[in-house]
Amino acid sequence: MTGVQGKVVVVTGAGAGIGRATARLFARNGARVVVTDVQEAEGAATVGQIVADGGDALFLTHDVASEEDWQRVLSAAAERFGGIDVLVNNAGIYFIAPVTETTVEDWNRLFSINVTGVFLGSKHVVPHLTERGGGSIINLSSVAGLLGAAGHACYGASKGAVRILTKDLAAELGAQNIRVNSIHPTYVRTAMADYGATMAGKTLDDLGRGMSVLGRLAEPEDVANVIVFLAAEESRYLTGAEIVVDGGGGTSILSV
Ligand SMILES: NC(=O)c1ccc[n+]([C@@H]2O[C@H](COP(=O)([O-])OP(=O)(O)OC[C@H]3O[C@@H](n4cnc5c(N)ncnc54)[C@H](O)[C@@H]3O)[C@@H](O)[C@H]2O)c1
Repeated sequence: MTGVQGKVVVVTGAGAGIGRATARLFARNGARVVVTDVQEAEGAATVGQIVADGGDALFLTHDVASEEDWQRVLSAAAERFGGIDVLVNNAGIYFIAPVTETTVEDWNRLFSINVTGVFLGSKHVVPHLTERGGGSIINLSSVAGLLGAAGHACYGASKGAVRILTKDLAAELGAQNIRVNSIHPTYVRTAMADYGATMAGKTLDDLGRGMSVLGRLAEPEDVANVIVFLAAEESRYLTGAEIVVDGGGGTSILSV
């Protein structure tokens, strides 16, 4: 197993939740990690945790909706670590509302982060990955990018866009040895899912239990494990794939 030892990995939105767990897991597996987030204190705290664990990481303030930020962040990452091998497009926001109560401003703001952010990151990381002879881009979609749900017109459409953008990029970049895959989690124990549970009037654990045949809510590390695998040499023939991390919920008829 060659894993991700020595690879340079950029994880967006790594100041919390799945992004933080992913950054920490990469570092524990010997990768050098660039933690980016709009929230400075949270991103710096992730780097503090990695360094305390004996890992190597750098924090950069980053709004994924800004093209200038992407150029600055990727240049600084490559300069610090000598190149970039992996990009995890993890940063995202959630929004639940009936379509009749969704404004154009809500829609555009969410798309600027969840979709334009993934487009810009992919666009600007390609030259860096090509310089290394290839690499891996991992995009966080959702089960909401595969199936419909009431109140999810805006968020679900954004995650559906990430799903097909992933396949388009995989087709376009395969000849450059750049693999692009999407991950589709169900609810995971983070602040984002807390919001979903509140909107559903349930506890997060009850919601998670009801959505999985494994009988428990997903933890951020359950998703991080799959992300690290998609960055590792062991997944080298996987591209354009959609990996559903839902504890089997989508394979069964469950009452939530
Ligand atoms: N938690 C879930 O249940 C769940 C399920 C399916 C998919 N996802 C997806 O996984 C990803 C991570 O979700 P999470 O639950 O860890 O979220 P979270 O809310 O816990 O953390 C998201 C992080 O992204 C950062 N962020 C927000 N906007 C940003 C921007 N414009 N630029 C840079 N960083 C920004 C936040 O500051 C935060 O640190 C998201 O793309 C989300 O849609 C989450």
